[in-house]
Amino acid sequence: MVGTKLRWGIGVLAAGMVLALPAAALCADTATKSVTFSKDVAPILQAKCQACHEPGSIAPMSLMTYEETRPWARSIRERVSTRQMPPWHIDTSVGVQPAVRGRSGRGAPQGNPADMPPARPVNTALFWQAERDGYGPPDLIVKSPEYTMPAVSQDQWWRPIVDIPGLTEPRWVRMVEIRPTNVQGRKIVHHSIAHVVMDPDEPDPDSVDRGTASGRRDRQDDPSAAINARPSLMEWAIGKGYDRYRDGTGKLIKPGERIAWDQHVHAVGEPVKAGSEIGIWLYPKGQEPKHRSYLIGFTGLKNGTAGLDIPPNSIAHTEGFTVLKENTIITNFQPHFHLRGKAMQVEAILPTGETQVISYVSNFNFNWMTNYIYADDAAPAFPKGTVIHVTAFYDNTKANKNNPDPDQWVGYGDRTVDEMAHAWMNVVYISDAEYQEWLDQHKKSTRTQNQQQ
Ligand code: HEC
Repeated sequence: MVGTKLRWGIGVLAAGMVLALPAAALCADTATKSVTFSKDVAPILQAKCQACHEPGSIAPMSLMTYEETRPWARSIRERVSTRQMPPWHIDTSVGVQPAVRGRSGRGAPQGNPADMPPARPVNTALFWQAERDGYGPPDLIVKSPEYTMPAVSQDQWWRPIVDIPGLTEPRWVRMVEIRPTNVQGRKIVHHSIAHVVMDPDEPDPDSVDRGTASGRRDRQDDPSAAINARPSLMEWAIGKGYDRYRDGTGKLIKPGERIAWDQHVHAVGEPVKAGSEIGIWLYPKGQEPKHRSYLIGFTGLKNGTAGLDIPPNSIAHTEGFTVLKENTIITNFQPHFHLRGKAMQVEAILPTGETQVISYVSNFNFNWMTNYIYADDAAPAFPKGTVIHVTAFYDNTKANKNNPDPDQWVGYGDRTVDEMAHAWMNVVYISDAEYQEWLDQHKKSTRTQNQQQ
């Protein structure tokens, strides 16, 4: 883990530093080993940046050739050295470590002795990130109808309900990924949530989370009320990849159920027609995971949404508290904010009063709703009675480059110019015996952690 991180750090810094050199120096063949764009930087850009930085993709500029890249040298150095690019904003010096997958990079770029590597073809088709990461294509795809967003418009919410085609028997889901229905759609879809609408004749109340309490609503306590609930299969937002549930856990989908989409789209100066689609990877037939996985947005607010009050030109913070009513394993972390989001910490307050930082993203960037999936053996477990404490920081000053108007007061709301704060986490509830087993397995690391505190 440390090795990988280190190599990655050197890799991207090399890119930033080399590009920041004067153009002439890039080609100079000095006596010392010279680092060149073609030889050293281009392979990094192809491997770590091009997927987004190519024509038609989500980033504002292409980084495929020297000519395209050179004008961005200073910005690249800044973004890379502050770890804003490639997007991976979790603070790896505290808390639970994510599995090294996806765009954090896997090791250093290959030392290519040839000069400029052959151009990597521009990706004009959509792709599944999970397939790129080696999980194969999805077993089912459910599409929403498309919405035509005019060039100029207020934000819109597109909420069609669709059937799940091809589902003939109950099946367990092990992984999900949402993507816009076409490449252009990557520009307008800000978030997309796929909720499951139960079959009223054969409801599945166990698919609804009843293991947490945040004092806001006690909707989950009554199983008969749960039938009208719409548990989330997945939340996706700009920059996110897939949700992979921990081995042996999953979500059940059944024929007769439907998907209710909740898509937030915004105008980008040209008309774009797009919706979302969800790729679903199933467990093999007959293989039943032992536990359900529940997607929960752990709130960063208390006293409801009125508690969010961000004065103009200020840094603000809010906190939210959620009680775990069951022994719980937390399997991932994805902070969610809008444009003023700055940082989020999630901490567990155990029944003993001990506290433990679970994860911290110190430099949140609105364009990157990155999902940090914990390594299987690193995913933390907590006893029932633990409080999940989310601290959210907002930057409503002009120092925040994403801030559309620092002179504006900001409160809670769904538009991107309003604010919200929660930590999307998938959780798995375990029995007392399983929790004890987890404790026994993790004794050593727990001891080390305590010693460090
Ligand atoms: C997953 C997609 C993605 C990857 C991977 C990615 N970028 Fe970006 N990049 C973006 C998007 C989208 C933006 C514009 C939004 C923002 O500023 O965050 C951006 C912005 C930038 C900017 C700021 C441009 C400006 O306006 O100043 C720089 C510099 C940059 N990227 C460099 C890189 C480099 C170098 C890499 C690889 C080491 C990389 N990016 C990897 C998507 C990506």
